[in-house]
Amino acid sequence: MSRTEASTPADKPWLNATLPLEERIELLLGAMSLEDKVGQLIQYPFKAPAKAEPADLNAIRGGRIGSLILAGSAWAGHGQSNPLDPEALNAVQRMAVEESPLGIPLIYGRDVIHGHATVLPIPLAQAASFDTALIEEASSCVAREARAQGVHWAFAPMVDLCRDPRWGRIIEGYGEDPLLGSECGSAVVRGYQGDSPAAGDRMIACAKHFCGYGGAEGGRDYDTTEWTDDSLRNYVLPAFAATVKAGVGSLMSGFNAIGGTPVSSSKTWLREWLKEQQGFDGCVVSDWGAVGDLIYHGVAADGAEAAALGLEAGVDMEMIREHFEDELPGLLESGRIQSSQVDDAVRRVLRMKFRAGIFEKPYVEAGLYASVRRREDHINTARKVTSKSIVLLSNKDKLLPLAPKQKLKVAVLGPYASAQGQHLGAWCLDGNPADVTSILDGLKAAAPDWEILTSDPAFTDEMLFNASLADIVIACVGESPCRTGEVHSIAELTLPPGQEELIESLGRLGKPLVVVQCSGRPLPSPAADHYASAWLLAWHGGTEAGTAIADIITGQTAPSGRMPMSMPRTTGQIPCYYNRRRPGKIRQMPNYRYHQDVQDTPLFPFGYGLGYTEFTYSDTTVKILADAASGAPSVELSATITNTGPSAGETVAQCYVRDEHAQVARPERELKGFKRVSLAPGEKQTVSFALGRDALGYFGQDGTYRVDPGAFAAAIGADSAVPLVGFNL
Ligand code: GLC
Repeated sequence: MSRTEASTPADKPWLNATLPLEERIELLLGAMSLEDKVGQLIQYPFKAPAKAEPADLNAIRGGRIGSLILAGSAWAGHGQSNPLDPEALNAVQRMAVEESPLGIPLIYGRDVIHGHATVLPIPLAQAASFDTALIEEASSCVAREARAQGVHWAFAPMVDLCRDPRWGRIIEGYGEDPLLGSECGSAVVRGYQGDSPAAGDRMIACAKHFCGYGGAEGGRDYDTTEWTDDSLRNYVLPAFAATVKAGVGSLMSGFNAIGGTPVSSSKTWLREWLKEQQGFDGCVVSDWGAVGDLIYHGVAADGAEAAALGLEAGVDMEMIREHFEDELPGLLESGRIQSSQVDDAVRRVLRMKFRAGIFEKPYVEAGLYASVRRREDHINTARKVTSKSIVLLSNKDKLLPLAPKQKLKVAVLGPYASAQGQHLGAWCLDGNPADVTSILDGLKAAAPDWEILTSDPAFTDEMLFNASLADIVIACVGESPCRTGEVHSIAELTLPPGQEELIESLGRLGKPLVVVQCSGRPLPSPAADHYASAWLLAWHGGTEAGTAIADIITGQTAPSGRMPMSMPRTTGQIPCYYNRRRPGKIRQMPNYRYHQDVQDTPLFPFGYGLGYTEFTYSDTTVKILADAASGAPSVELSATITNTGPSAGETVAQCYVRDEHAQVARPERELKGFKRVSLAPGEKQTVSFALGRDALGYFGQDGTYRVDPGAFAAAIGADSAVPLVGFNL
């Protein structure tokens, strides 16, 4: 209920919703004791009243806990999280709102990473859609379901740039490119928060993990990262800056250290870069235990030092209750920290709570969730983003699409043929495996005229026998979520044991073979590359996986997904990313190769993907519009795209630029724009990208952004391998 002055209790003036936000914050801050203030900086795992420790419930009644995380453990993605119980959430909230001295509501946070009851593809797959409008729409469906069940604050989007597919958390981000990560992360922020996170179908978003976590050495989760300042500013931080610009209500500081300084104790990046330079006014919550981890990084002697380092650096709220509660009062007393630092943190937490609308509506509305859970429009939107995320890697002899009405005998085999829960991926707390359409069921529904053979998921001679009876074989392979997600990295970039042999055995039957790869990361498969007539990368596609895969196989939807990161040929090529800096020496070595035993190129480059028709790019032009250093668009790149194939389709026009001469070695090329273009057979369209200062510059040696006039090269094409043409600015 929004209170006006007349209906606002005299002793709680901050409840007057007609007052400006900052005035409400100051009114409340002025009424808070030190204990009240420290309480707002504590997040604790939620337990229903019947299971909670009485001391914890008393802490809530005393206003000494500001937030509860709705997670069963520190590894919510793999742990068993209890389903949300709005009644229990309301019961605990009433203790805060109706019993604590100031009635400050608890803010409930949860890892709503890529779905709720309606589960979208993993974020890396969403990035493959290169469709940020659709990602935003799909995220708004997720927010509607999660908020209706009591979630005020979602710990997403994860925008950690990552080049190492061995890392389990590769699933959670948007790949190797700063622009793609920026655009997708901002789309999720807009989808989750809308115009106001206080709306009944929106939530506060949380960009994470600030910063550089995706650089974990060797793909080993939590391991150290060695980003340089230049790499942080030009590769890693742009996506965080973009989410701040999109109005993200919170960020989460990570576990990792950068060059020996843990990010959760880094004044340089948290307080100076994020809060002062980017003007971020929201709340920074530490990742689970990241403040206490400072002791184990070896930079804090004890909990007191860890709490001081964290707060000073700019951590506002400690996930979870470890050291802030016990140590901050003493640190204030001793003068090790300042009351202004505590007040700044409290303001940010209160600002987030006011923005979340929980002072007006602290309780979950009965029956609301049932009315929005897996609403038809949610399912349809999820189906769209899932099919757009699927990447057609190969389609020899144009085997696909298969005619759904043709009398075909199709064998649908392999470990993923009937799988359901695996499609939900490793970060899905509220999806129900029973809601997932399997590939088998998706194909049965899409092609009722086919005679579909299948067999036990185990690789047996019966599977081969069934395949031998079929006209066409569809092998559904992939990896389980147990190899992806937090603390679930792999050392060898290959399909799980036995699947290469499975694909080869099916391939040697000589039947047309379609390989559907359901993996959380780009996994090269020599067998699929050799034996498959058609090879689809379908990721972990969420609840609508089987339906979307069937849409693509039967041609209901033409494939249009593009690789959000390079697919290496082999583990030894890692790191293998398109926007590498150019080495100097090789100018004198025409026969230079990165490795003597494998081609230099990735198996599939960033931006790559096939469709069911062909597109040509021609007539690339460069028009200089203004001086490079001006704010106006300096150069306009255009190209003509023609659908030269037999059917309608969508392509993703990608604009790449190289800065030929700068203060620092710049990448071989960088994505500076992308657009989905739909064309009928024979149709042409000219696409243009107007690039200005923010697209042509970089952060130089002194850390400031600059644009250097001079030689550039650019191109518009279908993927990152397109040749560049030079121009001068
Ligand atoms: C985990 C993850 C983080 C998540 C948090 C709460 O350890 O690193 O992404 O939001 O803890 O579950």
